Amino acid sequence: MLTGRHLLLIVSGSIAAYKALELARLLRRDGARVTPVLTAGGAQFVTPHALQAICGEAVMQDLWSLEQEAAGGHIRLARAPDAVVVAPASADLLARMATGLASDLAGAILLATTRPVLVAPAMNPTMWAHPATVANVAVLRARGIAFVGPENGEMAEPESGYGRLAEPPTMLAAIRALFSAGPLAGRHVLVTSGPTHEPLDPVRYIANRSSGRQGHAIAAALAALGARVTLVSGPVAIADPPGVTVVRVETAAEMLAATEAALPADAAVCAAAVADFRPATAVAGKIKKIAGMAPAPITLALNPDILATLSHHARRPRLVVGFAAETSDLIENARQKLARKGCDWVVANDVSGDVMGGSDNTVHLVTAAGVEDWPLLPKPQVAARLAARIAEALA
Ligand code: CTP
Repeated sequence: MLTGRHLLLIVSGSIAAYKALELARLLRRDGARVTPVLTAGGAQFVTPHALQAICGEAVMQDLWSLEQEAAGGHIRLARAPDAVVVAPASADLLARMATGLASDLAGAILLATTRPVLVAPAMNPTMWAHPATVANVAVLRARGIAFVGPENGEMAEPESGYGRLAEPPTMLAAIRALFSAGPLAGRHVLVTSGPTHEPLDPVRYIANRSSGRQGHAIAAALAALGARVTLVSGPVAIADPPGVTVVRVETAAEMLAATEAALPADAAVCAAAVADFRPATAVAGKIKKIAGMAPAPITLALNPDILATLSHHARRPRLVVGFAAETSDLIENARQKLARKGCDWVVANDVSGDVMGGSDNTVHLVTAAGVEDWPLLPKPQVAARLAARIAEALA
């Protein structure tokens, strides 16, 4: 709940600005006070009257308004709230934030504020993917600005891709996360967990023994340190960790799509036991056995590598952590995986015993700096240690 919190909501120019009205309604219902600021672009899409009515406070629009200056101007607006939320944030406003331009009221507030800032971008997918926007977002993230979205989907123009403003309930969760206590408050961490199921026909699939316990424990440990966590999970029989957004998937292809959809993130932990191969063709009807005939061989196709994709992604999280499940030459294989997949850390574990599905784990943290051997620990303790190291790395 945001009871007693004071938020400054900056609405900039995007067709998605109408969703800012719904966000303001949710924020007020959650107990927050909302002071609205509307940019010139934002005012092309929502009226100051609508925003003012929903927020229950006067809309600020003009850097040069004498009335507003007399009340303390942009410095007061920048300092009075507990956090600043920019929703939607246009490509132009992101560029001005990254450069430090204070040419309008929103820019001046964002330069003068000492409060946490959360940005919810919305723009055409080509604008979001443009190297200029990618570089601006990287600069802002490195400065500690939190992001939510954009999401993948249909745009107003007949185009689809990453660029849709996050849905208001998602933005609300991200704003609540700004106020969570702990070293990862305001950070977004993506975790993959569990096995994947690769269909052979409508009733059969290829899978592995992963229970999801380690990945789920990591998601819970990160949330306990205040992070906003998106857990992309394959089919598992364990409960959802508390305080975590869970996206359920079946196949490696679905897991990749869901992880990309959850970007940007400050860190990613790929703990899922993704099936490396899938049946090359999933047969539409159940494969029947024919008396006296040998079964047809199964042809396999290679699945996408989610960890490697995230490590080389244009919107790569600052820290990417992989796992190496090995039955021999543990450290050497983990080192090779670190280099081959391009991630920052590899958590190496020997799966020759009953680690997969078991409750304890002995791991080694392999980084460019060297190898740390951790003792045999219950999976939640391995998770807590890893979460603490991630918090240190992002600090
Ligand atoms: N991984 C992934 N996508 C895949 C395969 C693996 O994201 N298609 C990730 C896992 O989540 C883990 C890391 O890569 O973080 C290593 O997984 P592992 O199974 O140990 O390695 P593989 O790449 O499958 O290599 P191999 O099976 O040859 O050891």
